[in-house]
Amino acid sequence: MARDLGEQNREWFARYKEDVKKEGKPFFPRAILHDTVMSLIVVCVIIGLAVIWYYDANGVKPGILGPLYAPPADPGTTSFVPRPDWYFYFLFYLLRIFKWPETVFIATVGIPTICLVLLLGLPFYDRRRERRPSRRPVAMIAAILTVLSMGVLTWKGATANEALGSELVLLVPKWAHQQGFTGKKLPTKGATLFAQSGCLNCHTYLGQGAGQLGAPNLSAIGKTNDAAFFVQYITNPAAFGNKVMGSYSYLGQQNMRAIGAFLAASDGPK
Ligand code: HEC
Repeated sequence: MARDLGEQNREWFARYKEDVKKEGKPFFPRAILHDTVMSLIVVCVIIGLAVIWYYDANGVKPGILGPLYAPPADPGTTSFVPRPDWYFYFLFYLLRIFKWPETVFIATVGIPTICLVLLLGLPFYDRRRERRPSRRPVAMIAAILTVLSMGVLTWKGATANEALGSELVLLVPKWAHQQGFTGKKLPTKGATLFAQSGCLNCHTYLGQGAGQLGAPNLSAIGKTNDAAFFVQYITNPAAFGNKVMGSYSYLGQQNMRAIGAFLAASDGPK
C-alpha cells in the first residue's frame, strides 16, 4: 500500500518486458499468419452462409436462412408498428420506459452517451495494470451489471407487448373520465377498440396520437354527428370523400357500433 501507483507501474512494465523477451512470440510472421488464417475462415463462413441462403430458398418458399425476397414495402400502411433489429431491443425498451417528451432525451442520448464516455475514459481513470478479475471488483461489477441490464432490456424489448395500442388502452379510464362516459359500457368498449385499432396513428385524441395525413382531432367529434353516422363513416370512409382512411368494417358491426358510441360520447373534455 505504501508504494505509489507510478512505482508499481514501472515495476510491472519491467516485468512485462522481461516476459516478452523470455517467451514472447514475434508479430511477424506468427501473429500475421494467425490473423490471416482467421480472416479467411470468417470470409469462408460468410460466403458459405450466402450460398446456403441462395440455394436453399427457392422462389417464394423461405429456406432455413430466410426468404430470398420479402414482399415490397407498402408506404401506405397505417397498422405497421416499427420494430428495431434485435440488437437494438435494449434501446427500444429504454424508450418505452421513459416517457415522451420529458425524459426520452435522457434515455436515448443521455444514458448511452454517459456509458460511452465512461468507456472511452477508462484507460485514463483506471491506470492500474491489474488484470485478474478478482482484483478488479468495481470493473467486474460494472461489467456484470451492464451485461445483465442489457440482457433484461433486450428480453423485455423482444417480448414487449406490441402495438402502441396496448399502452393507449391504459388511457381509456382517463378518456372516459374527461369525456364523462365513465361506467357506460358501449363507449368504453369503443374507446378500447379505438386505442387498439390504430386510429391514433393518424388522428389525435385528448393530446394523444400522431396528427398525420390531415386527420382531424377527434376529442370533440361527438358534437358534430351521432353514433349511427360514425358507424357509416368508418364502414366506408371513401363514400364521404375520405381517400386516406381505410374501411374498418372488418371489425364487425358490434365493434363498429361501440366505436360509434365512443365517438358520439366524445363531445369535448368537461
Ligand atoms: C390513415 C390515417 C387514418 C386512420 C388510421 C384513421 N383515420 Fe379517420 N380520418 C383520416 C383523415 C385524413 C380524415 C379526414 C378526411 C377528410 O377531412 O375528408 C379522417 C376523418 C375521420 C372522421 C370524420 C371526422 C370529421 O371531421 O367528420 C372520423 C369520425 C374518423 N376519421 C374516425 C376514425 C376512426 C374511429 C379510426 C380508427 C378506427 C380512424 N378514423 C382511423 C385518417 C385516418
